[in-house]
Amino acid sequence: MDVIIMPTADKAAKLAAKIIADAVKAKPAYNLGLATGRTMERLYAYLADWHKNEGLDFSLCKSFNLDEYVGFDGSNKDSYRYYMNFHLFDKINIDKRNTYVPNGVADDLEAAAAEYEATMESCGGVDMQLLGIGRTGHIGFNEPLSSFSSRTRAVTLTKTTYEQNSPLFDKPEDMPMRAVTMGVGTILDAKKLLLVATGAEKASIVAKTVEGPVTSMISATALQMHEDAVVILDEEAAAKLEGIEEYKWSFKQDPRWAAYQDI
Ligand code: GLP
Repeated sequence: MDVIIMPTADKAAKLAAKIIADAVKAKPAYNLGLATGRTMERLYAYLADWHKNEGLDFSLCKSFNLDEYVGFDGSNKDSYRYYMNFHLFDKINIDKRNTYVPNGVADDLEAAAAEYEATMESCGGVDMQLLGIGRTGHIGFNEPLSSFSSRTRAVTLTKTTYEQNSPLFDKPEDMPMRAVTMGVGTILDAKKLLLVATGAEKASIVAKTVEGPVTSMISATALQMHEDAVVILDEEAAAKLEGIEEYKWSFKQDPRWAAYQDI
């Protein structure tokens, strides 16, 4: 695992966006795994800006989102499909027909989830999966005790997640208690993982994720089992890491990160 600590949340978002942009430039038919949440908004703003002003080309990309609320489709402004259109897809040149978000309104959620997995597989899998982290340590909506082998499925959200996400709704009571999410196993199948976390309220869960024991009580610890996982933090989210100075040192020395020093 690589842990990269940037001085501010904005620089953390910019670094993650640059890693994505460079990957898309190197392989234009890139399969992006995308995430939602407040953390991703500025990251997507960078990608949209580089598309508009520097011609960053997404025309051959496909995208797969982590999750969606049960009962919501794109017409609901609290849906993750709406979020993605608003923050990214409407601002870049990706073909919307190649943007996939789990189906939260299917009559048969299980069949729709299996179809989502099949689509991902037939497209060649996800090249890089972008991840945020919830206060419970969830990635996607894989709440504590999600199996590390889990696949895309409908899940019930925890009280902690309700408290974290419901303030984003006009009426907090409108937040669904269920969601469809890629499983931890689905996420681990991506060729590369990129987790971004910023802000002091993430510091404890970040320390457990990076330095704690691997446990299904904290889905994000599964990143320790992936051969190419990168965790990008700001100083606040990194504050509780024991190895903080070592990680900063390694980032500066590592030739793989030479092009990313002056963000
Ligand atoms: C939601 C998403 C997660 C995301 C989390 C973090 O719960 N399902 O995938 O990681 O939000 O949100 P934020 O960036 O707003 O802290």
